[in-house]
Amino acid sequence: MSETNKKQVIIYYSLTGSVKKVVSEISKLISIDIIELKPQKPYSKISAFTKGIFQNFFGNKPKIKNNIDISVYDRIFLATPVWASSFVPLFNTVLNICDFKGKEIVLISCCGGSNGKTFDNFKKKLKGAKIIGEITFIKPNSKSDLSEAVKYFISSLD
Ligand SMILES: Cc1cc2nc3c(=O)[nH]c(=O)nc-3n(C[C@H](O)[C@H](O)[C@H](O)COP(=O)(O)O)c2cc1C
Repeated sequence: MSETNKKQVIIYYSLTGSVKKVVSEISKLISIDIIELKPQKPYSKISAFTKGIFQNFFGNKPKIKNNIDISVYDRIFLATPVWASSFVPLFNTVLNICDFKGKEIVLISCCGGSNGKTFDNFKKKLKGAKIIGEITFIKPNSKSDLSEAVKYFISSLD
């Protein structure tokens, strides 16, 4: 098990619950603060495919209700559903607001089949940060061994 004494936070968004489930598994294993991204204009399952994909395509930064301060954290987990082969547009906002330089970063995505360019796109925006781990869960809601997979990944981080 990870016994790091680093201060850790996970920043995540979840529309249909799979990223949330992974976050819940992680929080059972390590001491970690949790920030759930709250869009000022919430997505529905339909608007995710219309507005969400549009915002994704144009690199928009939708407003969020959260006030995020990552300055106290050493290690930051970024957990996103894959939308149109990338992270959700709310992370454009986060990447714009926060300075990740010098931070340790763990990238997590959940998808229906392929993570596409999600991690490549994160890495382009995370210059100066140290990516220490990355994992994609395909259809995590239907995985009976999700807890074990999360446990194995977390234990590999230190
Ligand atoms: C708008 C939208 C676009 C999506 N695009 C992709 C995609 O490009 N590739 C993929 O494998 N899954 C895609 N999916 C499926 C989600 O990534 C997958 O269901 C994920 O587990 C959802 O996470 P959540 O339950 O935490 O919201 C998409 C889902 C939505 C709603």
